[in-house]
Amino acid sequence: MIPDNLPHRIWQELARATQDRHHDWRTPVLATVGVDQCPNARTVVLRQARESVGELTFFTDGRSPKVAELQAQPQAMLVFWSARLRWQLRVSARFEVLTCGPEVDAAWARVGQSAAACDYLTAQPPGQPWAEGELGPTPAGTGAHHLAVVLARVQAMDWLALGLDGQHRRARIEGQAVTLLTP
Ligand SMILES: Cc1cc2nc3c(=O)[nH]c(=O)nc-3n(C[C@H](O)[C@H](O)[C@H](O)COP(=O)(O)O)c2cc1C
Repeated sequence: MIPDNLPHRIWQELARATQDRHHDWRTPVLATVGVDQCPNARTVVLRQARESVGELTFFTDGRSPKVAELQAQPQAMLVFWSARLRWQLRVSARFEVLTCGPEVDAAWARVGQSAAACDYLTAQPPGQPWAEGELGPTPAGTGAHHLAVVLARVQAMDWLALGLDGQHRRARIEGQAVTLLTP
């Protein structure tokens, strides 16, 4: 009924999503508590999935609102849906934002060579009001990049598999412990 070694199967798919641009799990939704205590959610790109330490990683601009939100309330969620697998995964995690150090240097060594580099070099922080007439290419800042690495330390996962026959399966996963749930 439940796939053998479900936690490992899930981590395998997460790792695949970091390599395969077409994997549905490459672009989860990150749901946070806003600084105004209201919910907030947005898409991010999954960059790393490390089963051995139970960590997921994405990159962002260290000046973006989500960073302030995660610093104020590090408890947040990533939600994944794969139409191919027919699996939804809701990941509860504690998040840490790294704005300097070896992880950020390694990430910038990768991203800095790519077309995405300009995303992290803008003079203006993301989410600022932009007056009409100023619309156009974002001026690149002359200073340092603003790439931040966000680590999600996974605490629990809620896995839901939609059956074609209407037989859905659901489980809660904490480490290697799998608890079957009613869908
Ligand atoms: C497909 C897709 C992938 C995205 N990936 C990222 C990402 O990896 N990191 C990121 O900061 N924003 C990413 N964004 C933009 C965010 O969804 C969001 O609009 C932006 O980061 C501002 O979010 P905030 O105001 O909550 O900080 C992506 C958007 C889309 C549509």
